[in-house]
Amino acid sequence: MKIACLGGGPAGLYFAISAKLRDSSHDVTVIERNRPDDTFGWGVVLSDETLQNISANDPVSAVAIRRNFAYWDDIAVHYRGQRVLSTGHGFCGIGRRKLLTLLQQRARELGVKLRFETEVESAAPFAAAHDLVVAADGLNSRVRAEFAQHFKPDTDIRKCKYVWLGTRQKFDDAFTFIFEETEDGWIWAHAYQFDAQTATFIVECSEATWRKFGFGEMTQEESIATCERVFANYLGGHALMSNARHLRGSAWLNFPRVLCEKWSHENIVLMGDAAASAHFSIGSGTKLAMESAISMADYLHSEATLQAAFDKYEHDRRIEVLRLQSAARNSLAWFEEVERYLHLDPVQFNYSLLTRSQRISHENLRLRDKSWLEGAEAWFQQRAGVNTGRVRRPMFAPFRLRDLTVKNRIVVSPMDQYRAVDGCPTDWHLVHYGERAKGGAGLVFIEMTCVSPEGRISPGCTGMYAPEHEAAWQRIVDFVHAETDAKICCQLGHSGPKGSTQLGWEEMDAPLKEGNWPVMAASDVPWSPRNQRPKAMDRGDMDRVRDQFVAATMMAERAGFDMLELHCAHGYLLSSFITPLTNQRTDEYGGTLANRMRYPLEVFRAARAVWPPHKPISVRISANDWAGGAGIQPQDAVEIARMLQEAGVDICDVSAGQTSTLARPVYGRMFQTPFSDRIRNETGMATIAVGNIYEADHVNSILMAGRADLVCLARPHLANPYWTLHAAAAFNDPDEGWPAPYYPGRDQLYRLAARGETTGSSV
Ligand SMILES: Cc1cc2nc3c(=O)[nH]c(=O)nc-3n(C[C@H](O)[C@H](O)[C@H](O)COP(=O)(O)OP(=O)(O)OC[C@H]3O[C@@H](n4cnc5c(N)ncnc54)[C@H](O)[C@@H]3O)c2cc1C
Ligand SMILES: Cc1cc2nc3c(=O)[nH]c(=O)nc-3n(C[C@H](O)[C@H](O)[C@H](O)COP(=O)(O)O)c2cc1C
Repeated sequence: MKIACLGGGPAGLYFAISAKLRDSSHDVTVIERNRPDDTFGWGVVLSDETLQNISANDPVSAVAIRRNFAYWDDIAVHYRGQRVLSTGHGFCGIGRRKLLTLLQQRARELGVKLRFETEVESAAPFAAAHDLVVAADGLNSRVRAEFAQHFKPDTDIRKCKYVWLGTRQKFDDAFTFIFEETEDGWIWAHAYQFDAQTATFIVECSEATWRKFGFGEMTQEESIATCERVFANYLGGHALMSNARHLRGSAWLNFPRVLCEKWSHENIVLMGDAAASAHFSIGSGTKLAMESAISMADYLHSEATLQAAFDKYEHDRRIEVLRLQSAARNSLAWFEEVERYLHLDPVQFNYSLLTRSQRISHENLRLRDKSWLEGAEAWFQQRAGVNTGRVRRPMFAPFRLRDLTVKNRIVVSPMDQYRAVDGCPTDWHLVHYGERAKGGAGLVFIEMTCVSPEGRISPGCTGMYAPEHEAAWQRIVDFVHAETDAKICCQLGHSGPKGSTQLGWEEMDAPLKEGNWPVMAASDVPWSPRNQRPKAMDRGDMDRVRDQFVAATMMAERAGFDMLELHCAHGYLLSSFITPLTNQRTDEYGGTLANRMRYPLEVFRAARAVWPPHKPISVRISANDWAGGAGIQPQDAVEIARMLQEAGVDICDVSAGQTSTLARPVYGRMFQTPFSDRIRNETGMATIAVGNIYEADHVNSILMAGRADLVCLARPHLANPYWTLHAAAAFNDPDEGWPAPYYPGRDQLYRLAARGETTGSSV
């Protein structure tokens, strides 16, 4: 087969090698614009896993690469005058130039033709003259642009500015991150050794800082001199060096995240950065390029037709590429938003940095560096006021809000049971909440409990508007207080436009088959074309509903609840004021966000006035309508939280969505946690994270990284009321209290957990 590889980077060269290894009769030519030894950049990082893949593919080049590796295990973070070191991370680095030289040598040995200093203007003549054209022409691929209508690329130019420099200063003991605060803003470096003499030194900062420094107007020399001044304390008198003289201007770049809908067209296939890019902060670009080269060479060999090989290659690689791109996106987003985290204590900042891609979990960090993680856990416990000296997971640290102390960070999220009779909780609720309170969570929320009969979502919803409701709730609260050390929070709400609908397991949000009652909302916008058109509330309605919230608050206090939550999320009445998707009012309660918040804040202030000063109140919000610019977006949620904080709300319960049928949520593990993270770290307000958090590991990493103060689990608590106690047993943590009658069950569970077994329902 006659093959042309356009571009002599890792993808093009390694594909040429891999194809030749599988069939030496292939006629392979690599066409590269640069000379053999002039390459931009400095060192690249490869993982152990990639090395194994390379070894299996071609032991010869793998040995040569290994011989030239610089290895290191530690990550050092310089921040606020401290150097925090953690170990067990296992990296190896190699000079990019060295890597390419080794690959060029190996390619030559195998009979690959290398044509340097040849600019590819168009792939078309190569496609006509070859059986296969591998477009490996890098991030700014000309071939991808030439056939853009077929490859359908999507390029997202990211916010930070970076410049890829080198230095003779030694960073051979650790992969080093340096965060420096300057008059012009924060600027940071990623530094790692890649051969005996040289280290990579990538400098990065926000666009705003870059502008303030005036980097855009500087020559490369001036830029470098400025970076040398900024990082002088770390450079030991060594210079910073550029080898990007071929780039115009100051050589600062923005990283483009590239995705392509298709990776092949006729006999042309995209590979490496040309097909998909992964941000340098997770050091995976070279890995992706080389592993894709192996995969394509395999299929070229195993499949009967070129098209079949392309299909298999794309199918095989796309998932891995998306996985890494997702980690890379988390990582680059962390750096883009790093100024949000620069108030954190160095311990927490370091943890946040290490877990930024969300590929490294809490327990994985323990495997890497137990003593560092235990130090961080001890720090967390001390911050929570615990000084027992015993190291415990963050989820088992107490938390205080006003005079309320919850024993740990696990919260049973509010979950409608649809089991009430005329708003009155029944024995179902007693058993349900009683079980969850016995199950170890520090705080149990009751379901959205409605302030009036017409404020119920469904006929099965609980209320707080009649004396018998208060009495029935008091029975439940008394049980929780008498038999457990959990605290219990009353969530109060009004269904608004989503009222008069069916039970959760019937047709959710659909109107009742019969017996509908009139509904109201901020504006007369129905939930869906099938739902009733709500009455747009007038001032009289607003006064009445506010007073209903006040009356319900007083009942919740008399019933003995420890905490109150106002439900301002999920499209219900108060939420219908906040989101512009449903608030079309033209009075002072519509229009700007401040106006839309006016009524929910009025209700909060009225409730706060009658709720005892020593007890906290939280507010649940939808931090994202998932409807783009038309609805609430995470940045608006920060403003909402600021207004709540100023009004005296103690903690923001950060949910998202369910405010409109137009929503297009992006689900995933912990998918709403970024909103909590943002609110907590931009406003300083305490937050609760919720949404697809189901492993103890998720909880610990959220807490330890400072992404929330409490963590709500909803569905996991339906499946297992004893979720927290099972987690404690799995960690062999003996300090979570069990109800005395259950001690034999506890002892068996701990014994089994210690042997690595479970009773079949462990978390
Ligand atoms: C700052 C920075 C740090 C990085 N750090 C790491 C790291 O630590 N680990 C890691 O794995 N990856 C890292 N990468 C990414 C890595 O460099 C790339 O992902 C990897 O090189 C991709 O290989 P490639 O062969 O697809 O593209 P490239 O390496 O870009 O190779 C493409 C080649 O095509 C040539 N070319 C382009 N257009 C033409 C044309 N029209 N005619 C002829 N030749 C052409 C180019 O000269 C180049 O040699 C980093 C990238 C950056 C920007
Ligand atoms: C059956 C059920 C009922 C729910 N009822 C409420 C509710 O009354 N109030 C509320 O704020 N959220 C309610 N939610 C949302 C949950 O509190 C939680 O935010 C959501 O389920 C995401 O958490 P999870 O992924 O842990 O389940 C309910 C969820 C479920 C599954």
